[in-house]
Amino acid sequence: MEQITINSLIGCGDCLKLIKRLPDKSVDLILTDPPYNLGRFMHKRGTNIKGMRDNHFAYSGWDDMEYAQWSRVMKRFMKECARILKSKGALVMFMSIMKVETIIKFAIDAGLYYKTTGIWHKTNPMPRNMNLHFINSIEPWLYFINDGHTGTFNNSGKSIHDFIETSTISASEHKLGEHPTQKPKFLLQHFIEILSNEGDVVLDPFMGSGSTGVVCEQLNRHFIGFELNREYYDIASRRILDRQ
Ligand SMILES: C[S@@+](CC[C@H](N)C(=O)[O-])C[C@H]1O[C@@H](n2cnc3c(N)ncnc32)[C@H](O)[C@@H]1O
Repeated sequence: MEQITINSLIGCGDCLKLIKRLPDKSVDLILTDPPYNLGRFMHKRGTNIKGMRDNHFAYSGWDDMEYAQWSRVMKRFMKECARILKSKGALVMFMSIMKVETIIKFAIDAGLYYKTTGIWHKTNPMPRNMNLHFINSIEPWLYFINDGHTGTFNNSGKSIHDFIETSTISASEHKLGEHPTQKPKFLLQHFIEILSNEGDVVLDPFMGSGSTGVVCEQLNRHFIGFELNREYYDIASRRILDRQ
């Protein structure tokens, strides 16, 4: 009989509650893509997103908190990151460019060491309103270290820039996750390979359709993932089992 080994532990619920169950200094890398909280901002922009409501993050219901509430969530989240990360463990978080400074402040206040703001450039972004303005094609990512200034950095002697360029997810990858802000596996693999080793524990507390978990399974990392939405959680669970 074929034997399947699953390296993942996932939970459906509020990550701020579930994360409390993780012991102090138990995680090597947190790689996550939390809500950027741009829903309300996007609603006021008068763009053509009305026609795309079915699968647009601005109408997903998880990206439109009051700013003060979102700030409280992010501050509490940073404190938990500092508690559960091992010494010299890393946090990489995708974020909207408008919120970069705020997130850096919350992380430093929680005791994390700020390393880098990098850019993910999408080579094929949606050319929405291309005759009216610059096409939005970048997403920043922020990199922090807990309890130290450097951690695992598997660069194999090569210089690695703070800029990564990939296409957005292909139609076939999107079909597996069906998430409005699904990250390409290749992008997540870049960070997991550089910032962790085989057998390490990687956490994604806002895992969406489980893309980080799929890559962890493929790269022999232990994965812990949380997701509030039952539908996305079920998709993540199936993707992680199928490793795709
Ligand atoms: C930007 S998406 C992540 C998408 C993911 N990177 C992927 O590739 O599918 C953020 C996710 O966080 C979830 N979320 C929002 N608040 C949460 C919370 N308090 N606890 C757990 N998940 C939460 C949302 O339901 C959403 O699926």
